[in-house]
Formats: sequence, structure tokens, C-alpha cells
Amino acid sequence: MPTPAERAAELRELIDAANHAYYVLDQPTVDDAVYDGWMRELQALEADDPALQTPASPTQRVGAAPSGRFPPVRHLRPMLSLANARGTDELVAWHRRARAVMEQEGLGSRPDRFVVEPKIDGLAISLTYEDGRFVQGATRGDGVVGEDVTANLRTIAGLPDRLRLPDGASPPRVVEVRGEVYLPLAAFAELNAARAEAGLPTFANPRNSAAGSLRQLDPRATAERPLSIWCYSVGHRDGLELASQWATLEWLREAGFPVNPDIRVVETIEQVAEECAAWEERRAAVDFDIDGAVVKIDAVDVQDRLGAVGRAPRWAIAYKFAPTTATTTLLDIMVSVGRTGALVPFAVLDPVSVGGATVKLATLHNQEDVARKGLMIGDRVIVQRAGDVIPQVVGPLTQERTGDERPFAMPDRCPACDTPVVQPPGEVQMRCPNRSCPAQIQQGLFHFASRGALDIEGLGEKTIRRFYDEGLLTSFADIYDLHRHRDRLVAMEGFKDVSVDNLLAAVERSKERPWSRVLYGLGIRHVGDVTAEAVVAVCPSLDALLAADVETLAQAEGVGPVVAESIREFLASEDNRDLLERLRAAGLTTESDEPPRPADGPLTGRTVVITGGLEAFSRDEAKRAVATAGGKATGSVSRSTSFVVAGAEPGSKLAKAESLGVPVIDEAAFLAVLAGERPPPEREG
Ligand code: IVH
Repeated sequence: MPTPAERAAELRELIDAANHAYYVLDQPTVDDAVYDGWMRELQALEADDPALQTPASPTQRVGAAPSGRFPPVRHLRPMLSLANARGTDELVAWHRRARAVMEQEGLGSRPDRFVVEPKIDGLAISLTYEDGRFVQGATRGDGVVGEDVTANLRTIAGLPDRLRLPDGASPPRVVEVRGEVYLPLAAFAELNAARAEAGLPTFANPRNSAAGSLRQLDPRATAERPLSIWCYSVGHRDGLELASQWATLEWLREAGFPVNPDIRVVETIEQVAEECAAWEERRAAVDFDIDGAVVKIDAVDVQDRLGAVGRAPRWAIAYKFAPTTATTTLLDIMVSVGRTGALVPFAVLDPVSVGGATVKLATLHNQEDVARKGLMIGDRVIVQRAGDVIPQVVGPLTQERTGDERPFAMPDRCPACDTPVVQPPGEVQMRCPNRSCPAQIQQGLFHFASRGALDIEGLGEKTIRRFYDEGLLTSFADIYDLHRHRDRLVAMEGFKDVSVDNLLAAVERSKERPWSRVLYGLGIRHVGDVTAEAVVAVCPSLDALLAADVETLAQAEGVGPVVAESIREFLASEDNRDLLERLRAAGLTTESDEPPRPADGPLTGRTVVITGGLEAFSRDEAKRAVATAGGKATGSVSRSTSFVVAGAEPGSKLAKAESLGVPVIDEAAFLAVLAGERPPPEREG
């Protein structure tokens, strides 16, 4: 048995290492529950023997010291952390302690109001506004000194560059706004899929991906990631009176900061518990990761009297939800074949309940992901589920290995068609090269029918497999012949008249989807939904596409030589041309209804973003005017934007343009450009 001093030293080391991995490297090494356990054990040892508590103990600090990659920023007020309550009993105990302190002060009836907020699992940041202007933004760092990520924060949509103030009001001299930056769950899933395809390491969870995105050295890289923010408090302030947390949230909202609309103020600890339960229910429905609810005593004078112990204030507590990580056994690693032939390993798990759902399978992206995580078949592993995102295997518990585990190797033949697999040079993804591989065809059909493409309700993976096995579906065009086989379909087990008719009606409706979605549905390599729209902008019809050479294709935004070549290769195939003609004959949309773009208009080759209200045009009219002048109107500012037109009350796009050095013009100048005057010079570099 180690002595308490030895154990405390050991815990300090474990926690410091875990903090470094989590905060600095953005690559966590331990499960949250394990980390919390260490922290509690260390706190208990220090409480028993205060001599063990050193100022450098992780119980006295927040997170880890800054990485040194960004200039340091000393927070005007330390950024604190929160103590945890697991379950209602601990919540009630926290309330009782707060009451006891207030009673000693002769204020026994308080606290009497609480604010309950989501505990967003993102990255805490501090934003300093001087005289109403955003001047500096920083990460939390160790709570005292953080990292200067001002330029990166400026790329976040919805973060005001200037405080919005009531008419005539003068801005506070200084105010430090605090909030949590996060990556929405859907964006997280997309980002990881793209990283896996590109052979880059995937992020363990949305929090790490948000941290990784915000701490890019090049703000343009941050701008590519759709980061969001919820603001929830004010740190240092000069010239601003805020008497309560609720008043703070209202001030933030009025000043133009995103504040979560589901935050509530309540009066009893029972209502607090109900609100926490409500957040636990809401958890699966929101598009950001939350790992608990934060309960704050509303009145600032009460907060001040309660003060803080070590790293955590006494006036607030984090109510933690049931963990969304769990430990189970990795029974096997199997391999599926995607529509482009990519061999994708996935984990077969001993079924385990994670945050209320049973998890049996988890994605592993590619063989590098398996290797990076160091997984062996038979390992005890940590499994994690974040909201609606597909479950993930975080990593193995290597200390629990018995020696019976075996390594995983990718198969050398396609598991679906037995064709020897290939690994194109420079790619991480192994592929089945057989174009007639049944798995690829079925996955291709599934993609074609999916929501973002032709959106054919009722044509899911299972139905596709059955139709394929019956010989009814081998090509996208066969979908539009299904009505000829109505009797056969109705006779199939599990199908009824109604379901067949619903399916056929959905097939019929899919003919109305725009040309860009048809193009996306074809599943041409490197042609995602955004690229498909860009291609349609230069090839507004199937005929234009068939006639396009690589140079024409490369004029589309975001289309470089690789993508252009991939499209050309697809169109060069006789089979694919036949397919396209069959789709056209079936009545699918093969023309875009966007106005044609002249090749020599005043805005040819320019990309324009419009923000705020214009007097002479509605938003749609303005976009059309840009197209008629030969240009392209897009919704978001990037470094390739030629200029931004700022109307009345412009949004965050203006701030983004300013931070990227993209020229901004007003409506009058825009009218002049449409009339033929020279547009502003494009940004350099
Ligand atoms: S208040 C004094 N409110 O949780 C209170 N924090 O463990 C400190 N967090 O560093 C912050 N959502 O990164 C607060 N609604 C919320 C929060 C929140 C997430 C994070 C924040 C903080 C950590 C504390």
C-alpha cells in the first residue's frame, strides 16, 4: 500500500499527463469517468491532510499550461472551473452547503433563484471588448494565462465584432465575455469522414475537433470549419452593472451574442433538479455535445459572498449526466465496402449501453485509425457516443490485456466479391477495384436514394439489398423501371400494396430534384454536394456537362485538376453515358433553372457575398443580378471571395471579410459595378 503522500504524488502525475493530452494535444488518453475518479481521490487525500495540498496541485489549477504556439494572454479575471454533482443527492448537498454559508452571514433565505444552463462540451474562451469593439480573444489555458486566438475567433459566424447597444447608449469601457466554442455534431461527423478519406487522424470527439479547429495557426483553416459558440458569462467589466446571472444573459443576448434559448431561471432546488433532467432528455435532440447542466446561483451579491474553493466557485455546480462512454469487449473487427470501393473496418462490440442506447457496432474509418488507436481483437475498449453521432471506439485499456488478444490485419481480398484489393500509391484507403462489386453497387444505390441526393423515401439499405438480390436493381436507372414490376414487388415478403405504392410515388417525386442533386447522386469520386452545385454553375445542363472539357470543369469553384479529371473519367465511360441517357429518358431533371451566366459580364469570374439588407433588391434579386452580370453569389465569406456587399445591419460576414482582408463595398458601389464600373481589386495572396 502506498502512503497517502505517495498516492497523492502518483495521482498528480496521472492527472497532469491526462491534462496535457486533453488540453494541449487535443488527444485525450483517459475516460472522463476515470479522470473524475482520480480528481476526487486526490481531493479527498488533500482534504484529510492539507499538507499534501501544494499550490501546483491539479486540484488548484484548471487545465494545462498553454502550448506556446500562440502568444500568451493573461485573463483579466481567472477563468474558473466547476465542481461536479452526480445525481440529485449531490445537487441537494451542494445547495445545503451554500445555504449554510449564507446562514452564517445572516442571509439564511438565500440563494433563492438559480439559472440552469447546458454544460457545453466545447472549448472555453474569453472575448475582450473595448469601447464596444472586439479586440482580443483567448482560450482558457490554465485559467490564468490562455492563448491569443483572436484572428481565429473572428471567423466564427454570429460573434459580433461590435457590441449592439440601445440607441444612444455608450459601450462599457471593457467587458470580457465568456462562452464555449463548439463544432456542431453534423459538422464533426463530416469532418472526421473527410479526414479519414484523406488519411489524416480523426478527432476523438466534437470537443477535440473544436479545439483543434480553433487552434489552427492559419485562421483561414479555422474559417473552413463551421464553428459555433454559446455565450454564458461576463468576466471582468468596467462600466457595466450586472446584478444577476439572468441579467447577464439578457445583456449578452441584447448585445448580439448567441445565448442558448433553453436556459431557464427557477426558484427551488427541486425545480433545479427537474431542469437538469430536462436537459438530459434534450441532450439527444440538440446539435451540440453537452455533458451536463450547469446550475448557477442567480444573484451576484450571493455569488460574491460564497466565493471559490481552489479552482471552483461555490456558487455554481456542474450536474453531470450518465456517462456517454462505457467499457466493453472488442469481439471482432470486420470490414465493409463503401460505394467507391473503400474498405472500411468497423468494430463488433459486446453490446453495451452508452448514454441510454445499446451499442453493438462502431466505425473505425480505416486501417490507420485501427493502428493509431492500437486496437487488438479481444481488447477491453472504451466506447463513446456523442449525441446522434455514430459510436466510436476511443481506445483499448491496455492494462487489462490477457495475452489472448490478436492483431487485426486488413483482408487482401474484397469481403464482398473476393477480388484482390489494391492500395493506390499515396492513399491510405484500401480499395476493391471491381466496378461490378455487389457491395459497391448497393452502396452506390443507397447514396443515390439518400436524403441529400434523390431523396427516395423507402429505398433504404435493406430494400436495396433485397431488390439487388432479386435482380431488380443493378443500376440507378433501374429505379425508374420499378413500376413495371409492381406485381412482383407486392408479392415479395414484407411488402404490401401500400408500401409499394408509397415507394413508387417517392420514386416519381425524385424526378423533380434539381440537376445538382442528380449529379451529386451519381457518386462520382470527389464530387460531394457542394462541388456538384459548383459544377452545375458552370455546366447548367447535362448536355453542357457532356460537352465540357477539363478546363471548363476547372472553372467551377473548388474544382481542381484531380476533381475535374475524376468527372471527365466518369463521363468518358460508355456505360456511364448510357446511364445518363436512361436517367434523362426517365424524366429526371437534367437542367438547372438558374439564369445562364454570361462569360463576359462585369462580374465574370468573381464571387460575391451579400450581407445585410439592400434597398433596391431583395436577397434573391441581388443574387440573380450577380449571376446575370456573370458572377457567382455565395453565402459565406472565404479568402476566395472577391468582395462583400454590405447593406443595412450587416451580419458577422462583414467581420469575417474584414478579418480576411476581403474588400467590402456598399449598395451604391454595388449598383455601379452592376452598371459596368470596375469592381474593387481582389484581396492579395
Ligand atoms: S460557467 C464559474 N457555464 O465548463 C463557472 N461553464 O468545468 C465557470 N462550460 O470552463 C464557467 N458550459 O469550459 C459555465 N453554461 C456554462 C458552461 C460552462 C460549458 C465549461 C467551461 C468551463 C467548464 C467548467
